[in-house]
Amino acid sequence: MRVEGLRCRVGERLLLDGVDLAVGPGESAAVTGPSGSGKSTLLLCILGLTSPESGTVTAGGHELTGLSARRLARVRRESIGTVFQFGELLPELTPLENVALPALLSGGPHEDAYRRAAELLDELEVPREGTPTGLLSGGERQRAAVARALITGPRVLLADEPTGALDARTREAVADLLFTVSERRGCALLVVTHDPSVAARAGRVLRLEGGRLTPDPAERHARRNPTLDGATA
Ligand SMILES: Nc1ncnc2c1ncn2[C@@H]1O[C@H](COP(=O)(O)OP(=O)(O)OP(=O)(O)O)[C@@H](O)[C@H]1O
Ligand SMILES: [Mg+2]
Repeated sequence: MRVEGLRCRVGERLLLDGVDLAVGPGESAAVTGPSGSGKSTLLLCILGLTSPESGTVTAGGHELTGLSARRLARVRRESIGTVFQFGELLPELTPLENVALPALLSGGPHEDAYRRAAELLDELEVPREGTPTGLLSGGERQRAAVARALITGPRVLLADEPTGALDARTREAVADLLFTVSERRGCALLVVTHDPSVAARAGRVLRLEGGRLTPDPAERHARRNPTLDGATA
């Protein structure tokens, strides 16, 4: 995934003022920064759901800027997986149905979609059926959301506060999973987070502030002095 010279204005504010970022297959980057600094907007630009003023976005080998709405929707569906703070699963469907859904919508054979959904849920240790998704625990729901993001075999995985709604223990487990599974599958992972223990797992930590994306100074300090913070050791 590659973003070059991205400028994005929302109303009067220039939220992204020349943002450059590249994340390769199996690599990960975390983006931190103050509330309102434009982190979610950056993800929306990468998804092509907000149009930047200028700059380019390439995901999974496709340049998204300038594509028609139809082609953009297709690239998004096939190349990009997303995980958001509240999982955004349909509560009345079973986990199996929720995870199979993006693959069913892409039009492949149904048996294939359900088989891959079952494999992913087993791998991520989420019950497949018997319980509507709405009744799963927070951690199980969030793991199901990761499974759903991965079912189409995306080359890019975007996560916005994926552990924001979880307690500390569940947060660790979900974060662990997000990083190990995307590395194993060779996805480029970009995760927006306020949680230092999530950021510490990423290959790089960047900070978005004043429209600019720069290496996080606290992070550089912690990595040079790993004893200061066990989580980064
Ligand atoms: N469609 C929109 N119309 C008007 N203002 C918007 C729109 N989208 C975002 N904003 C504003 O842009 C700013 C950046 O929003 P964004 O959601 O990207 O911040 P964020 O860094 O993700 O914050 P948080 O950490 O709180 O999630 C905010 O001030 C928000 O109110
Ligand atoms: Mg946000």
